[in-house]
Amino acid sequence: MERTLVIVKPDAVQRGLIGEVIARIERTGLKLVALKLSKIDRETAHTHYQEHVNKPFFQGLVNFITSGPVVLAVFEGPNAVSIVRKTMGATNPVDSVPGSIRGDLAISLGRNVIHGSDSPESAEREISIFFSPDEILSYERAI
Ligand code: CMP
Repeated sequence: MERTLVIVKPDAVQRGLIGEVIARIERTGLKLVALKLSKIDRETAHTHYQEHVNKPFFQGLVNFITSGPVVLAVFEGPNAVSIVRKTMGATNPVDSVPGSIRGDLAISLGRNVIHGSDSPESAEREISIFFSPDEILSYERAI
């Protein structure tokens, strides 16, 4: 079954949007299988964002993601990666449509509320950075 990593970013935690963001994804029908409130250290941020290491915004990105608590979550279900990306909306809030999380809740490219893995391969890599296998639960859900 496909899994994806979701990070509720520090801006959203500061704004009291944890419940809203997680609820919107839960309502898609994907199953929440891991969840924690955490502060990402700089080394872990470098590992997570390694594909952006040469981008001009990299230091700002690391500064921001390590600036305060985040919520880390793993969602599971068919096409989990694509479903979460659709629910999040485009990276740049200028392009994210109303009804999507970023379209409704974000106005800044850097402070854009949520991260979701961009492919099943990225998801596996990213989940292993933040969760040990025993933190990911297996359970039946009625719907
Ligand atoms: P995220 O999905 O967390 O993955 C990489 C992040 O880099 C992305 O969300 C944006 O928040 C951020 N990002 C992408 N482009 C820029 C940019 N030009 N300036 C600042 N941040 C950016």
